[in-house]
Amino acid sequence: MSSYVHKPVMVAEVLAALHPRPGGCYADGTIGGGGHAAAILDASSPNGWLHGSDRDGAAVEAARTRLAEFVGRFEIRQGKFGELADWVPAGSCAGVVLDLGVSSAQLDTPGRGFSFQRDGPLDMRMDMRQSLTAAELVNETAADELVKMFWELGGERQSRRIARAIEQERSRSRFETTMRLAGLIERLIPRHGKSTHPATKVFQALRLAVNDEIGSLQCGLTAALTVLKPGGQLAVITFHSLEDRVVKDFGRARARDYTFTGGVDVPELRQPRAPELKWLHRKALKPGAAEQAANPRSRSAQLRVFEKI
Ligand SMILES: C[S@@+](CC[C@H](N)C(=O)[O-])C[C@H]1O[C@@H](n2cnc3c(N)ncnc32)[C@H](O)[C@@H]1O
Repeated sequence: MSSYVHKPVMVAEVLAALHPRPGGCYADGTIGGGGHAAAILDASSPNGWLHGSDRDGAAVEAARTRLAEFVGRFEIRQGKFGELADWVPAGSCAGVVLDLGVSSAQLDTPGRGFSFQRDGPLDMRMDMRQSLTAAELVNETAADELVKMFWELGGERQSRRIARAIEQERSRSRFETTMRLAGLIERLIPRHGKSTHPATKVFQALRLAVNDEIGSLQCGLTAALTVLKPGGQLAVITFHSLEDRVVKDFGRARARDYTFTGGVDVPELRQPRAPELKWLHRKALKPGAAEQAANPRSRSAQLRVFEKI
């Protein structure tokens, strides 16, 4: 699909983290337009192998086209990265990459309903086979639940006002389009010269909820660790603090040489066990200044790298 446009972020850093080698086996759980995958296949030429997946059928199709020059060296399936361990042999991969969030192709296609800047149906499904859409959440979720969703998943301070306004408006007619929702929020919270659109946080919250992105990420990190071989690297690129917190918590928990139950780490209740991974960098890596200037979308990217023990 030639209309699928997405510029991969932090490619050099991902390659440095995974250092793909000929004959190695790799997995890309968020193959998107195939940018990272192409770089991994190229660096592992002539015979490195790549397992790829994406929830979005359009991405799978685009990646297969993009990777045509490497045919015979990859397999791509449509599905969540949390399902990688269902078809990729455990302990087989030397490196796994997860590049989270949405692609530019998803954001820029009005019909997908991800953007408050383009009019389209209130959809936001990454996987079009799923039934839950953003319209269903906006029209059918109790106002108190919307308040919670906008606050917890978007950090929106005006979540109560916005949810009440949605409740009033939807009693007149259902919300069907991105522009009607974005327009309502813009009328409630004028920009006052700010460059960020006032609907940004609500749209992020809805997208995360429609696709259960936080829950999927927790499953995906576990699956990635399962398919990695000891000494293999996991590279995860996040775009906002909620995702990054999940990745950090996962890294901390799996790097400990003990577990604990009950949610509170009391020394007497610790159960010793071997750590499963180690952090390769204490701090998240950020894109360089040149990449940030050339690709504004990369500015919020953060890369964390772990090694399976
Ligand atoms: C930032 S893009 C990835 C771009 C890709 N690295 C490239 O080089 O083109 C994120 C992709 O992850 C996919 N995605 C998000 N959550 C997913 C999940 N839980 N399982 C599989 N794919 C997911 C989205 O559909 C989207 O195509």
